[in-house]
Amino acid sequence: MNIIKVKDQAEGGKKAFELIQSAMKERNAKVLGLATGSSPITMYEEMVNSDVDFSDMVAINLDEYVGLSETDSQSYRVFMNENLFNKKPFKNSYVPNGMAENAEEECARYDSIIEENPIDLQILGIGTNGHIGFNEPGTPFDSLTRKVDLVESTIESNKRFFEKKEDVPTQAYSMGIGSILKAKEIVLVAYGESKVNALKGMIEGEITEDCPASALQKHPNVTVIADEAALSGL
Ligand code: GLP
Repeated sequence: MNIIKVKDQAEGGKKAFELIQSAMKERNAKVLGLATGSSPITMYEEMVNSDVDFSDMVAINLDEYVGLSETDSQSYRVFMNENLFNKKPFKNSYVPNGMAENAEEECARYDSIIEENPIDLQILGIGTNGHIGFNEPGTPFDSLTRKVDLVESTIESNKRFFEKKEDVPTQAYSMGIGSILKAKEIVLVAYGESKVNALKGMIEGEITEDCPASALQKHPNVTVIADEAALSGL
């Protein structure tokens, strides 16, 4: 894993965007895997404030809450529209449909989108328990898109985006760890003390399903962009 230590999230956003631009220029990247959460926001700001044209690019997001519609203000679709797609249009942008009637069909549909648009560069954040996407501890490393139950600590961490804890959905559709590992290149961004244990497990720990992000040790091209606080456990 390449580790880039940055002074803060603003610098991290710049670095992450530089890696996206290199992938586009040098490797003709056309498909970006994108993530939600607060960590990638500065990268989206860099993208939006740049003169880079993404209109021939495809974006595929990692996950979506089950039960939230694409117009619900807490949905990851709205998050992505507001932070990126409304300001920088892509040719196509995909987010799982949180309102799908048939979960199995929705997961198969999403897997075929990924199959048809192999991801050149996947952006990731990381949960405090080491989750990537919404792949909680115990997720098999060969997993594809599926409906997952969120663990208590994830609901607790994400409640800050909702009015009250009871509003946080308890399930999500998430690309699997196997889907993520298929990306040609992976860039993970993490900031702050709350990510210390997750980063330590991911970078130095045993490769184990107990720490989903440790699966990234198996991938040949991963860059971690993190601040000093997040890296302080290494
Ligand atoms: C959610 C998302 C993850 C994200 C994580 C961390 O659980 N599903 O993709 O990495 O939150 O979010 P934050 O960057 O806000 O700490």
